Amino acid sequence: MKIGIYPGTFDPITYGHIDIIKRSLKIVDSLIISITNNVSKKSLFTIDERIKLINDGILNLDKELYEKINVKSFEGLLTNFASENNASCIIRGLRAVSDFEYEFQMTGMNYHLNSKIETIFLMSSEKNSFISSNLVKEVHKLGGDVSKFVSDLVINELNKKNLM
Ligand code: PNS
Repeated sequence: MKIGIYPGTFDPITYGHIDIIKRSLKIVDSLIISITNNVSKKSLFTIDERIKLINDGILNLDKELYEKINVKSFEGLLTNFASENNASCIIRGLRAVSDFEYEFQMTGMNYHLNSKIETIFLMSSEKNSFISSNLVKEVHKLGGDVSKFVSDLVINELNKKNLM
């Protein structure tokens, strides 16, 4: 039984994330979507709000995939969380060359911290290659249409945040 971890800030979850979730389930038997705060980013949504949006986002997946997914939050090192959950690999999506340097450094550090855990990269599909949570938040805040990138619930929650 191969358990994978899909970590991220998911602030908020986008269709790009959902695509990686679906595709990673071709590689692992079960997947833990793992939410944490990235120390170098300020999050718009709380961890609980992000969990709610992720749970909603995966509801439409085929039952067979849905049953293989757990959603959990964690604090501290990803490699510790991965080994506590018996995960053998970390899954990350790669959108563009610009993602590479950051991912390369994180992979090296995570491997140094625990060499039993491999990081596997999935290239974003072409239609998702330019989607990021940050751009979705910015475009939405400035009145742009983000309905092709995130669910209606995410848009509702973004609307609420913008009214605050
Ligand atoms: O979605 P993001 O912001 O690119 O995800 C980054 C994340 C959450 C995967 C990264 O910040 C992380 O692993 N944080 C947990 C703390 C940790 O282990 N830091 C060392 C990473 S080398």
